[in-house]
Amino acid sequence: MSAVVEHKCETPNCEKRATLQCPTCLKIGILGSYFCSQDCFKGYWKTHKALHGIAQGEGKLKNKNSISGEYNPWPFFTFTGKLRPFPLTQKREVPAEIGRPDYADHPKGKSACEEALRGNTAIKVLDDDEIEAMKVACKLGRECLDAGAAIIEVGTTTDEIDRIVHEAAIERECYPSPLNYYQFPKSCCTSVNEVICHGIPDMRPLEDGDICNIDVTVYHRGFHGDLNETFFVGNVSDKHKNLVKVTYESLCKAIEIVRPGIKYREIGNIIQKHVQPHGYSVVKSYCGHGIHRLFHTAPNVPHYAKNSAVGVMKSGHCFTIEPMISEGTWRNESWPDDWTAVTKDGKWSAQFEHTLLVTDNGCEILTKRRNENGNPHFMDKM
Ligand code: MF3
Ligand code: CO
Ligand code: CO
Repeated sequence: MSAVVEHKCETPNCEKRATLQCPTCLKIGILGSYFCSQDCFKGYWKTHKALHGIAQGEGKLKNKNSISGEYNPWPFFTFTGKLRPFPLTQKREVPAEIGRPDYADHPKGKSACEEALRGNTAIKVLDDDEIEAMKVACKLGRECLDAGAAIIEVGTTTDEIDRIVHEAAIERECYPSPLNYYQFPKSCCTSVNEVICHGIPDMRPLEDGDICNIDVTVYHRGFHGDLNETFFVGNVSDKHKNLVKVTYESLCKAIEIVRPGIKYREIGNIIQKHVQPHGYSVVKSYCGHGIHRLFHTAPNVPHYAKNSAVGVMKSGHCFTIEPMISEGTWRNESWPDDWTAVTKDGKWSAQFEHTLLVTDNGCEILTKRRNENGNPHFMDKM
């Protein structure tokens, strides 16, 4: 039995229910192309027909504004904001000599070692060798993020950022952890404007005023290191600069309370208390996580207040804090690619992430920036 799906007319702003399908789309296998009437079909034909060319591989993006209809993989999806998907490049390869996580070659990208521990709330205490390995993986992850940061400017595509991060990882004997993780198609996440997290690098050139998060995780000799920063592209409005600044401050304040004996559930209280007076909200669907030999494992670390996270910090725990803070609603939805998480209201969202090691008297920021001041990149442009 197949589900009955209602379709909307492809003509922009038409919004009518649609049952007529474009015959060319049917012939060449484009799904989801529907019109309410012959008139709408004819009226939108000039724009619509470019889709046939792109689907048949002769596509050139003549106009970078994909809303013009030259590239729209989901004609019936209603976007929450202004951002649109662009074409992806081919999958990048990792040389066979580089050690790979278990999901790298799984057809569905499943991690058997993560799934074996699903539901388990026990938090691993790392021994000295494991701690040393985490320090190295996190330092290399930081270097890869900084390599991506160096090419951020108006006109750079997020795919180009992905290529730089991918190559920086390989040069350092690292597997880029996102690649094929539950079939994620690229080597890092790039989340622009209303994208909360898990944005897929594509051919969209960054535009003046964008904010863009790069989230890098690398897998080196059996251990993952995970960090992200949000960057300014060209001239960013004061309103969006403030969102990024307050988000970063919330991460710093959360890190300050990390030491043995503190409950993981306290972190969300600190973060929400800092951002709420600015009118911002805390995203609830994505959390910080334990990280070491596994990419995502216990503890689960919510960033919102009054959560019921399980666990108490102990020396030797490794985990991330990675608050996603939105200008408007905390609610999220996903694009039909099943990865890109966007705000429900299309307003913008920012994020910062560090991997931390709990020590006897506090914590060590394993993914810290290793230059004069250690400040994140955006601060140079405040
Ligand atoms: N790096 C992200 C995190 O902070 C996870 C990305 S998973 C991916 O947890 F598959 F989207 F890459
Ligand atoms: Co990350
Ligand atoms: Co993370």
